[in-house]
Amino acid sequence: MIYLDNGATSFQKPAGVYQAVCKAMYRCANPGRGGYAAAEEAGREVFNCREAAADMFDCNPEQVVFTSNCTHGLNIAIHTLVKPGDRVVISGFEHNAVTRPLNLLGADIRIAGRELFCWEEILESFEKELKKGAQAAVFTHVSNVFGYILPVEQMATLCRQYGIPFIIDAAQSAGILPVSLNALQADFIAMPGHKGLLGPQGTGILLCNRLPQPLLAGGTGSESELQTMPAFLPDRAEAGTLNVPGISGLWAGLQYLRQSGIETICRREQKAAQLCGRLLAGFGFRVFSGAHQGGTVSFVPDMDCEEMAQKLAQQGICVRAGLHCAPLAHESAGTRNTGTVRVSFGHNADFCQILALERGIRRIKEE
Ligand code: ALA
Repeated sequence: MIYLDNGATSFQKPAGVYQAVCKAMYRCANPGRGGYAAAEEAGREVFNCREAAADMFDCNPEQVVFTSNCTHGLNIAIHTLVKPGDRVVISGFEHNAVTRPLNLLGADIRIAGRELFCWEEILESFEKELKKGAQAAVFTHVSNVFGYILPVEQMATLCRQYGIPFIIDAAQSAGILPVSLNALQADFIAMPGHKGLLGPQGTGILLCNRLPQPLLAGGTGSESELQTMPAFLPDRAEAGTLNVPGISGLWAGLQYLRQSGIETICRREQKAAQLCGRLLAGFGFRVFSGAHQGGTVSFVPDMDCEEMAQKLAQQGICVRAGLHCAPLAHESAGTRNTGTVRVSFGHNADFCQILALERGIRRIKEE
């Protein structure tokens, strides 16, 4: 199998991740719920992962809240900052995980920055919207469809300058690009554990710079005498039993990233995406590539996108076609009606994957 759908989830994880999940299932009971060895071992696994995440994302361990995915973290953050009718500035490349919660809340959504790969345009239009006043801003670090890396440092500076609280969606950047809560001073940064961080599905992290409004209330193993959620982090946002096997696997993923170096992985993915973009352009397809691009490249072939992805799947090549749960990003790029075929590289990106894709497309064209 040639797996090129890392934007959806990383699939071929480091061996240590599978081993850690399995080990935790054999050895770990409920963390913080007992003083016996199996509960304490679970507590250590969770704490070790929290510490490793804090180290990677430049914050304190208690600012790391475990969630079940990035969408979960974004929902906590959005529900904390946004009330019905609030004016919220977002980029033109947001995922439904941002736009749907905002719509559900009845936010007054303002879109800033719709030109692909153009930092000048997004910064100018973002500042223009912030200047008019807003209760919050939410923006993605990297577009899940086009791999466009947004100028989040500058956008964060603008939000701070105008005193507007903000949330960063690091769904496609965590584990691939540097993300520092301390440097960005975001109110919240949400990320999945199962994409670039190489953990299992069902894991995610919300980095908190302020107390979140709990989405779920329930047991935390702390302050059990109270009928309100604890006022401290991370317990305030971690009601119910944590996904210990998932968190153990996530810790193994973080350790692997630390050893390999995220800069090395990022360079490998970017090089693969650039090469892949050139190859796809050689077929005469419309390819979306430019400056500030990560390890993802989208294209519109000379046939239906879903059909192209299906024909590649029949040859064991895994890509994602359609709107990628991000109709806004497609609207910005002018591909709302066609969708695109997305190729997204992962930590194991290599030349053979690109050659396999080329062979696969050639076969389809020769049919
Ligand atoms: N948001 C994920 C993707 O881009 C699932 O495919």
